[in-house]
Amino acid sequence: MTKRIRKAVFPVAGLGTRFLPATKTVPKEMLPIVDKPLIQYAVDEAIEAGCDTLIFVTNRYKHAVADYFDKAYELEQKLEKSGKHRQLDLVRNVLPEGVRAVFVTQAEALGLGHAVLCAKPVVGDEPFAVLLPDDLIWNKGGPGALKQMADHAEANGAGAIAVQDVPREQTASYGIVATDDFSERSGRIRRMVEKPSPETAPSTLAVVGRYVLPAGIFDALEKTGRGAGGEIQLTDAIASLLDTTQIDAYRFRGTRFDCGTHLGLVEATIRFALDHEKISDAARDSMARTLHELGVIDLD
Ligand code: UTP
Repeated sequence: MTKRIRKAVFPVAGLGTRFLPATKTVPKEMLPIVDKPLIQYAVDEAIEAGCDTLIFVTNRYKHAVADYFDKAYELEQKLEKSGKHRQLDLVRNVLPEGVRAVFVTQAEALGLGHAVLCAKPVVGDEPFAVLLPDDLIWNKGGPGALKQMADHAEANGAGAIAVQDVPREQTASYGIVATDDFSERSGRIRRMVEKPSPETAPSTLAVVGRYVLPAGIFDALEKTGRGAGGEIQLTDAIASLLDTTQIDAYRFRGTRFDCGTHLGLVEATIRFALDHEKISDAARDSMARTLHELGVIDLD
């Protein structure tokens, strides 16, 4: 697999139960980190990596995601009339010229693997990326995680899965990989274990939500039965390819925020607020004052 990826799949058809009641009407991927929804960070990362076709796997309730990427005629007219050019640019540049969005429906939430399989007719026979928007990855001033992985995949003729080091006591919360010798950034995956206990985990390299996959994954998914929780697991399909296909674990540069959890979403919000062009100073002051009031730090 040496071709450059051009297509990115965003599986966003999950129910988002951890964020109820907010996600009763607002999809998890539309929750904002300061002023951009989570999905926009993932889309920007995919475009930076060279993708020009973005495939959103949604469900019939998630109109908000499609609406967000659609043209907003009335809003644009109003902003134009009132001379709000900066805001107009923000609304227009949600997707840059030359990038197209395609929407595919997952009729039933049968798992991440099934969601990826729904994208098969649009992806066709070429390597592609999968991004889970609730894993927000930030590499300040440097290339995004998917760009790093796409470069690695292209140079090595391999697939790639993003991994990060986790404390051994947390292995039971992740998919963990066993690899050949791990160079500084990568190693060929030999085995993937879902949520192993700290005693049995083959390493402390945990899978996070960025993948560069060969088209062969679709056949593997079609053959994959329902696994844990009655869902078709992407991990099971990847595991079935490992003997014949080189798929590398890739330790990306950057910080990952698990925005599928309450704490991760709050941490990302704090971090991005502290770096935000307009509110960074005010955010810093506000946080310092709050920590002072709580007795965590002393400002005097
Ligand atoms: P999660 O396991 O985080 O599930 O899915 P979820 O429904 O989004 O959230 P919780 O756990 O109920 O709070 C991982 C990714 O896979 C997608 C989700 O949208 C998310 O991006 N997914 C999951 C689907 O697209 N379809 C599915 O059937 C399941």
